[in-house]
Amino acid sequence: MEEIKKIGTAELKYDGKTYPLEVMEGTEAERGIDIRALRKDSRLIAFDPGYGNTGSCRSAITFVDGENGILRYRGYAIEDLATNCTFIEVAYLLVHGALPTQNQLSKFSRLLNRHSLIHEDMRNFFRTYPEHAHPMAILSAMVVSLSSFYPELDASSDEELDLMVGRLLSKIRTLAALSYKQSVGEPHVYPTSKLTYVENFLNMMFYTPVANYEIDPVQVRALNKLLILHADHEQNCSTSAVRLVGSSGANLYAAIAAGICALWGPLHGGANQAVIEMLEYIHKEGEGVEKMVERAKDKNDPFRLMGFGHRVYKTYDPRARIAKNACEEVLNKLGIKDPLLDIAVELEEKALNDSYFKDRNLYPNVDYYTGITLRAMGIPMNMFTVIFTIGRLPGWIAHWLELRDDPDNRIGRPRQIYSGPNHRDYVPIEQRG
Ligand code: ACO
Repeated sequence: MEEIKKIGTAELKYDGKTYPLEVMEGTEAERGIDIRALRKDSRLIAFDPGYGNTGSCRSAITFVDGENGILRYRGYAIEDLATNCTFIEVAYLLVHGALPTQNQLSKFSRLLNRHSLIHEDMRNFFRTYPEHAHPMAILSAMVVSLSSFYPELDASSDEELDLMVGRLLSKIRTLAALSYKQSVGEPHVYPTSKLTYVENFLNMMFYTPVANYEIDPVQVRALNKLLILHADHEQNCSTSAVRLVGSSGANLYAAIAAGICALWGPLHGGANQAVIEMLEYIHKEGEGVEKMVERAKDKNDPFRLMGFGHRVYKTYDPRARIAKNACEEVLNKLGIKDPLLDIAVELEEKALNDSYFKDRNLYPNVDYYTGITLRAMGIPMNMFTVIFTIGRLPGWIAHWLELRDDPDNRIGRPRQIYSGPNHRDYVPIEQRG
């Protein structure tokens, strides 16, 4: 990680005093004020609910320029990575900081293959979940359970660390597919070293002993792309959850399980499911897209246009453009004419030409088109966020590793402005009115 440059001093004037605050600059010229000493010197804290303007760490993993629609992993443009790489190459890039050589990639693939099985006893857990359990609930519980089945958590050498990371990256795909098989009551399918990472996942999802499953290279390419698009996005809600939990010294599996729970929410990774629900509603109820746009604008209606808007992107999300192309490619290959795609395109056009959305810089985000692609591939809606989880895992791991080696790392512990009652005298229960 490059040293952060100190480029000047800002001043905060308050209550007759001046507090100098160091100004720092990152490698892409974004600037911040170091307020770490502010409370000690002045008793003032920074108030920033939702952390919209708080830099929680230095990071050399992902760069997002939300004003100009730029996303880079370790310096490489998302467009280049999505066009030229497999998901596994990108996972290697995020975790190790550089694209792999052929030898490194082969070694990494062998590691993932070797650790793709889950402990047979873990398979019993699946059987005890209620039939309609959400796969995200199962997945988060299974990931934290890995810490008891693979308790070598200290990982002091590079080799041990590679093993722990490889295990998690590989097993998550097996756990995800098993949670689906369990939910549809079909026999579990084992991973095989004959297939690539994504092929294996599709095979474990869709192969049954009574109907052979043909792996379609167009779908494999599309899924690789979708996973790459999701692989990291700097300090988003789930990654911050991983870092916060990791900052307490919790093990990798525990921190990742927290990330999975954070991703589940409809304002984050759950949005791809919410988009399909919204499009289906428009389709089934015969609601015009105009009505949905009007509802989204109405401040008395809690409805929001799902898959629209982003905390950081104030222009078209570069991932949404790639996801839209991948979606069209898959639908064309499969010869599917999905009315939901037509509705999505119409809704997008309507919103992008509406002053409410224009004034607030609300554009489609990554989740807007991904659900339609996954649906076309036969992936059920409650698995959409699970796919996002598989994609985001290398990013979470990279952040956990970065945090571990960061000399500035302290346990995450925000402050608050207390707004409750002042001191009250205790009243015994018999005297309470
Ligand atoms: N539909 C209608 N209005 C919206 C939408 C939307 N999807 N998104 C934001 N707005 C409006 C807000 O009402 C607010 O209006 P106001 O200024 O008049 O009060 C303004 O735009 C700014 O919105 P905020 O809520 O302040 O933006 P924030 O950065 O907090 O939220 C978020 C970002 C959560 C993504 C939001 O845009 C949203 O709820 N979108 C829909 C859910 C979604 O698609 N989530 C996936 C995000 S991508 C990801 O996590 C991978």
